[in-house]
Amino acid sequence: MAKKKVEQNKKILEPIKKVLYEGANWNQLEDDYTQQFYEQNLSQFWRPEDISLQPDLNVWSILPENIQQAYAKNLLVLTFLDTHQGDIGMPVVSRSLDDHFHQRKAVLNFMGAMENAVHAKSYSNIFMTYMSNQEIDELFIWGEKHKNLQKIMQLIVGYYKELDRFNYIKQFMSDNKDYDQTAFDVAQFKAMVASVYLETWLFYSGFYYPLFFYGQGKLMQAGEIINLILRDESIHGLYVGRLAQEVFETFSNELQEELTTWVHEFLLELYHEQNELVESIYDAVDLTHDVKIFVRYNANKALMNLGFDPYFEPEDVNPVVLNGLNTETKTMDNFSMKGNGYQKMKSEMLKDTDFIFEKKKIISFEGDKK
Ligand SMILES: [Fe+2]
Ligand SMILES: [Fe+2]
Repeated sequence: MAKKKVEQNKKILEPIKKVLYEGANWNQLEDDYTQQFYEQNLSQFWRPEDISLQPDLNVWSILPENIQQAYAKNLLVLTFLDTHQGDIGMPVVSRSLDDHFHQRKAVLNFMGAMENAVHAKSYSNIFMTYMSNQEIDELFIWGEKHKNLQKIMQLIVGYYKELDRFNYIKQFMSDNKDYDQTAFDVAQFKAMVASVYLETWLFYSGFYYPLFFYGQGKLMQAGEIINLILRDESIHGLYVGRLAQEVFETFSNELQEELTTWVHEFLLELYHEQNELVESIYDAVDLTHDVKIFVRYNANKALMNLGFDPYFEPEDVNPVVLNGLNTETKTMDNFSMKGNGYQKMKSEMLKDTDFIFEKKKIISFEGDKK
């Protein structure tokens, strides 16, 4: 009887023996770029509350309503994109990487945390400073009911959910004889393309308006926040683009051709929605034409991050916006507050000694009261 029990226990323990848990060893490079992205990401870390938005209020309060509306709607579009990039986009791509890629996962998870906890939160901070609760509620309802915005979210998140499904299949059914590794790789590649389209392309129609103001020295604090977000998103798009290229290189020529067609079809599907979304926001401020040029400019950049040739002809982007976009060449200008002289807020705990005042000061304070 006892022998039989031992055999039974062995059987139960068998699958556990197969599992090998390992730790992330940062002493060994996983590749020649991930640790550089790690350093860059962490050195860029910032918090939404580090930037006071109060100085913008005197400009905001005198803006005409159509301009306020356009500004707020753009930030809402950005909120929706960042929310889902944080909730599912980055986490699902991270989970899809093979188990031994601990450093890559760490970099993606860090990026994912920034999307919602920092970027989306920052847009909310701007709303809370500029607008009433009722206006904020109405704005979010506008986004929830916007046909094109919802369609864009559905398309992007659709590829994330599909990869989520494949992650599950890989984890629990990869021993099955019908398991198709190529199908998994294709789902992974498509989700990465969706991610790069979001990071390097779709965000930018929303960035355009704050940059347009920033380039003219207006709403500078919000513009500073947009610059910090933009700096993050640009390395996010580069990193995921690089991972996508690695996956793409493993495919057969035939499959590469098929997926190149898909990359362009998906681009055009999003482009159609993006154009209508731009019209619905920018017609009211006569900037639709300019913003659509910017949309095509950034679609090309996203394709280049993915290793593909540009799709659209090159066009001249509004120099005011390019001025706001270029974070590297800015010089500090104390009068307009323009520049990337951003510093993190420093704080320290209150101590008992902080409440010991000089006698002189107390006397003069009491004197003032009299
Ligand atoms: Fe983000
Ligand atoms: Fe991002």
